[in-house]
Amino acid sequence: MTLPEWVQSGFPHVWLPYTQMKTTAPPLPVVATQGARITLAGGRVLIDGIASWWTACHGYNHPHIRAAVATQLEILPHVMFAGLVHKPALTLAERLAALLPGDLNRVFFSDSGSVAVEVALKMATQYWLNKGERGRHTFLAFKGGYHGDTIATMAVSDPDEGMHKMFGGLLPRHHVIDLPTDEKSTEAFDTFLKRHAGELAGIIVEPLVQGAGGMLFHGQDVVQRIRAAADTHGLLLIADEIFTGFGRSGSMFACEAAGVVPDIITLSKALTGGTMALAATVAREHVFDAFWSDDSQHALMHGPTFMANPLACAAANASLDLFAQEPRLAQAARIAELLEQGLAPCRDLKGVKDVRVLGAIGVVELEKIDNMNALKQEFLNAGVWVRPFNDVVYLTPALNIAENDLATLTDTIVDVLSA
Ligand SMILES: Cc1ncc(COP(=O)(O)O)c(C=O)c1O
Repeated sequence: MTLPEWVQSGFPHVWLPYTQMKTTAPPLPVVATQGARITLAGGRVLIDGIASWWTACHGYNHPHIRAAVATQLEILPHVMFAGLVHKPALTLAERLAALLPGDLNRVFFSDSGSVAVEVALKMATQYWLNKGERGRHTFLAFKGGYHGDTIATMAVSDPDEGMHKMFGGLLPRHHVIDLPTDEKSTEAFDTFLKRHAGELAGIIVEPLVQGAGGMLFHGQDVVQRIRAAADTHGLLLIADEIFTGFGRSGSMFACEAAGVVPDIITLSKALTGGTMALAATVAREHVFDAFWSDDSQHALMHGPTFMANPLACAAANASLDLFAQEPRLAQAARIAELLEQGLAPCRDLKGVKDVRVLGAIGVVELEKIDNMNALKQEFLNAGVWVRPFNDVVYLTPALNIAENDLATLTDTIVDVLSA
């Protein structure tokens, strides 16, 4: 494909994420998206297996979200959110509070997942300070976890994870241990808490699925165990549902499936149906109460410029309408069935370590991917947008993807991995 003029002139000035710019293959110029399809300059169309890092849960360009954003654009595209409020944000906060389990009732908006986690960490730290307890400014996090690319969020992600390893010297020190999945790791987890709970502000976990760390699954019992331990030691539990939330892991929220109410939850990605950048850090009443005071120093000390952007909030409200009006969770359950069936043949392939499915997440874990670029090219040649990372090939499609498109995706994975 000849690259369009705008790529030739603009690409020398852009810096892509996680990309060696010297050796990278020319990027694919996208000119349009629709449903589960990405159209490239020159007219080629790819079926999207990952919904733009699992954000586009209703498919791209959903008319209901588009209309809501267009209407909002006419009225109020943005206004600062300090001293001023607006209907899209307050409506969204009220709706999220109603949707989330328990008394997760106070919504702090920001503009990306990493910032939502940063806010959660600050909120938990300041919670203790406001209550007059000093010295609680470290967190317990888990191996395989990923909470973002900013400095504080890297520090609570798996330190051996490829993307973050080199920044060790820069990062604040937290504790990253094994998830308590079996007897041995649970014992180590309990022992750790007995020794260190007094220094901790809280525990942070991606419930049920550790996404970017390798699409690793754990049981509901693990989430319950962590909640129980946090209760025993009086620690705040932060659930990072930036990946798992909004139906991705099969229920609206992974914590809900596990019957657990965290003290703070972080949301982003599918919050706006993948249309706009928006994130939320939502706290329970007792967390908020620690900030409710006559002392101005007890106010939460954070405030991103574009927090609660009205266009993004309008997109999020429209996305919640779609969850209410359309059978998204039933569709996620059907996707799970189809992923199970469609990826099953991979189990018999040489070099396949594991095949696992939870909700609308399908994973084929390989022993090793020798030539990542060649593998990615094979998928492109077959007309699908599938981006393996580490040793996993995965699908996180739009929840309303057509069954024949999903079949094309799973068949292609089977074919490519067979070859
Ligand atoms: C669980 C989790 N937390 C945090 C983040 C960071 O979100 P963002 O990329 O929007 O900063 C991600 C992104 O993949 C994520 O999956």
